[in-house]
Amino acid sequence: MKNLVKCGLLVLFLLTLSVFVMAGAIVDSKHNLSTSGRGQIKSSSETRICIFCHTSHNSSPDGPLWGHQTTTPGNFTTYNRATLKNQPQQPNGATKLCLSCHDGTIAVGAIKGLSRPIPMQNVGAAGEIPELRPSNIGRDLSGTHPVSIPYLQNSALAVDHLRWPPVDPEGKVGPDADGFVQCTACHDPHDDSRSKKYPFWNKSTFDEVCKTCHTY
Ligand code: HEC
Ligand code: HEC
Ligand code: HEC
Ligand code: HEC
Repeated sequence: MKNLVKCGLLVLFLLTLSVFVMAGAIVDSKHNLSTSGRGQIKSSSETRICIFCHTSHNSSPDGPLWGHQTTTPGNFTTYNRATLKNQPQQPNGATKLCLSCHDGTIAVGAIKGLSRPIPMQNVGAAGEIPELRPSNIGRDLSGTHPVSIPYLQNSALAVDHLRWPPVDPEGKVGPDADGFVQCTACHDPHDDSRSKKYPFWNKSTFDEVCKTCHTY
């Protein structure tokens, strides 16, 4: 019991710490979907920032303390070209989390456990990111850099323009823990301050991101 309390306190401490670290960067970004948000899509009533993606209880195993309703993989069209040596899978990992809003099929305010989504401004009829906005990527990923594609030693060595191992001293760019390239290889959902040009970019320049994995 004592250990449980200690463990709980540690988790609480780490969470509080990350709230301070991450809140700073996310506040000024379009991922601040609360009433204090800077973008057009934001809530008219909800003041909490993290709640749109994370929850402290009853979270889903789809992601870290994941609280948003998650999209269903299955009928996404994946990137498909003859030159590709590895096969992208249906969205998994962080890609699945991003597409839970960005495929445009789920309300931005659809939080697990709420009977109706948090009301948002400038969304579609069902609360989704409207179809005409560029941020609505849809379920056709054939024009997006391959995601949920393996990037392990064998898969990398099969491709002459890929590095192995990828080395990023900051640890921001690279395959995820399961060895897949995800949306988060290029984008950091918590920070839109590194590049003025590329949204939520992991580095200050475009090439720095690509060249972590590619030799050209
Ligand atoms: C728009 C969605 C979104 C919002 C809002 C958001 N996060 Fe996240 N967060 C994510 C995603 C997606 C991941 C998983 C990233 C991955 O797997 O690489 C994540 C992961 C995390 C992690 C795990 C460590 C990591 O970076 O992967 C922590 C801790 C975290 N978020 C804290 C926060 C806090 C604190 C806030 C509020 C200040 C917040 N997040 C707001 C989407 C969001
Ligand atoms: C809770 C819903 C939600 C989740 C989850 C989410 N986003 Fe977003 N994101 C939004 C909204 C809403 C916007 C603002 C879109 C707009 O204004 O058209 C946005 C904006 C963006 C933008 C900037 C678009 C622009 O027009 O400037 C990028 C890039 C982005 N998100 C990437 C991601 C990535 C990558 C992930 C996963 C790691 C993710 N998002 C997860 C809701 C979400
Ligand atoms: C290889 C890097 C890379 C990956 C992987 C990637 N993106 Fe992007 N993304 C970009 C760049 C670069 C832009 C800036 C616009 C452009 O040049 O197309 C962008 C733009 C965006 C935008 C703004 C809308 C737009 O089209 O301008 C959103 C939203 C977005 N990305 C979400 C995602 C999501 C969700 C995923 C995963 C399914 C993803 N991105 C994977 C590089 C990437
Ligand atoms: C985390 C590693 C990673 C990052 C970062 C990354 N890529 Fe890739 N890229 C890959 C992998 C893995 C493939 C799939 C290669 C294969 O299996 O043939 C790929 C495929 C591609 C392809 C398609 C090749 C084909 O045969 O159709 C292009 C083009 C490309 N990347 C360009 C970029 C650009 C531009 C950037 C930066 C905006 C970037 N990549 C960032 C890992 C990465």
